[in-house]
Amino acid sequence: MPDLRLPPAVVDETSTPVRLRYFDTMLSWFEPGRLVDLGAGHGQFSLRAVDAGWTVTAVDARTVRFPDDPRVTWVHQDVRETDLTSYDMVVNLGLLYHLTLEDQISLLDRSAGRPMILDTHVGVAGEKGYRLTGVVDVDGHEGRLYSEEGIQHDPRSSWGNLASFWPTPATLQRMLAERGWDVYTAPYYLSSRTFFLCVPRDAGEDAFLAPDWLRRGAVGERRRQLRGERAARRAAVQRVKALEASTSWRLTALPRRLARLTRGPWG
Ligand SMILES: C[S@@+](CC[C@H](N)C(=O)[O-])C[C@H]1O[C@@H](n2cnc3c(N)ncnc32)[C@H](O)[C@@H]1O
Repeated sequence: MPDLRLPPAVVDETSTPVRLRYFDTMLSWFEPGRLVDLGAGHGQFSLRAVDAGWTVTAVDARTVRFPDDPRVTWVHQDVRETDLTSYDMVVNLGLLYHLTLEDQISLLDRSAGRPMILDTHVGVAGEKGYRLTGVVDVDGHEGRLYSEEGIQHDPRSSWGNLASFWPTPATLQRMLAERGWDVYTAPYYLSSRTFFLCVPRDAGEDAFLAPDWLRRGAVGERRRQLRGERAARRAAVQRVKALEASTSWRLTALPRRLARLTRGPWG
């Protein structure tokens, strides 16, 4: 498996198709559950998640771009106030780089413990068209400050803060690792921006498995119940084998899929 943490090559494609492909592919590695799309904006990622079988709540401080689609729960709220405890998946696309460091830390703290698909800018040199400072140290975090002054009329801009924090790649890695995530970095589709798949380290491979029925513990319990009854036990063993085969397929398939992430082409 390649080291996905290494700085990857920049993908030479327009952003939108790449973003959609990264999102759809990463989401497909998880069993659908309850998903929150933070800073959902136009709502297109929320709708794709619904199409993929997720139960979706979309949150944004601006409702002007929300589509009229009742399959999603559209919530008009500042993400600084969003309670994330009831979700199986956090989607954080195009939002983190519009927040201050303090608000990023608070949001990441509340997001921790579940998978997160993150799409954000990092504070690297030479990004054209963005008003960035040089590297600064904010509370022990290296990054650049991004000015949001004069663009607050833009529905894609920050909400309430006029400067945002763009952590350096190393700082972002540390911020995510400190909150218990293993991080898989997709090839950058802009020189300062890409998708980061954050998987809870403690959950290990289980994060990619279906809840309940695929858990090894549940299978073991089922096996114990059936012990002593020969025919039933044989059937249980068959079932366990099938489940384990399914489990190991998922576990071994993941690195292969991640490898594909760095190589393309995307399906
Ligand atoms: C660049 S757009 C990203 C839209 C979409 N997620 C995407 O990736 O294409 C940023 C969105 O975040 C929202 N936003 C910014 N700060 C916010 C905050 N504190 N609370 C809620 N939404 C916020 C903006 O209103 C805007 O819709």
